[in-house]
Amino acid sequence: MTKKVVIDTDPGTDDALALIMALNSPELDIQGMTSVAGNARLADTTRNTLRLMNHLGHPNMPVAQGASRPLRGKFNYGYNYHGPRGLPVELVTTKSRPRSLRAPEYINSIGYSFPEEFVIIALGPLTNVARAIQREPRLVSWIKEIVVMGGAVEIGGNVTPYAEFNIWNDPHAANVVFDSGVPVTLVGLDVCVQVAFGRDDSDWREGQTTGGRLAADVLATWFTETHPDLDQYALCDPLAVAASIEPELLETKSATVSAEQEDAETYGQTRATYGDGNVKVALGVDVDRARAFVLERINSTH
Ligand code: BDR
Ligand code: CA
Repeated sequence: MTKKVVIDTDPGTDDALALIMALNSPELDIQGMTSVAGNARLADTTRNTLRLMNHLGHPNMPVAQGASRPLRGKFNYGYNYHGPRGLPVELVTTKSRPRSLRAPEYINSIGYSFPEEFVIIALGPLTNVARAIQREPRLVSWIKEIVVMGGAVEIGGNVTPYAEFNIWNDPHAANVVFDSGVPVTLVGLDVCVQVAFGRDDSDWREGQTTGGRLAADVLATWFTETHPDLDQYALCDPLAVAASIEPELLETKSATVSAEQEDAETYGQTRATYGDGNVKVALGVDVDRARAFVLERINSTH
């Protein structure tokens, strides 16, 4: 059955690649995008989402604007990783504007319309999803699955020795989602750092489609201007989209998961207690198949 999908996103270079893939995937019936701050300020991530939709031939895709702040405190943006304003390339401007509904209300309206076939793919801090659950507790029973790019369960983090960026930016929201009992697939650094494009690989540079060329442009600019110091580009958000379509790319273990929201040193760390639980923690990935899947979906048309 086709999934009715909302993608919550903070573009973001790897978000951009993930959105290209999702739009090229007939398995996903995308109902809209919701923007959240994270990799950049909300104004930037919303503008980037709108411009990406326009550039990729979906100017009428609904985009609902979400949170500029986490449930507590402030976001720390990822400009140093993703480039100025979240993307290192300038996309053509668009007249499209966000919907009048804010992201939590938009998520709830889609859940209400498609109970039990509704899938959220969450590629940024979980603030919008948490707010949606807080406003409409019935949402939990309407959601079939949330595929979350977030966490570092059995390995170290990417912003601190303990924490992964998305969860670290709003661990309170992550806990609202984890504690709600909703089925979550957690695609964290444990798996996504293994699936990468290398500076010297030629295959990602060969895109012929609008999406493929944009992906190549984003990656080439990132490798030359944003990160001449790095040789690998981890495909984190793209792997979450891939897993939403082909879950067998991952090996998962059921667990209850919590994010540290008090202790300063380990703030944002994700901890799993394996056994029963609503979270499938991704601990293994078929690296070659996943990388090939990402490449194929970036370059295909739908
Ligand atoms: C995650 O954080 C963001 O910088 C990326 O877009 C991805 O969602 C990786 O930790
Ligand atoms: Ca992201």
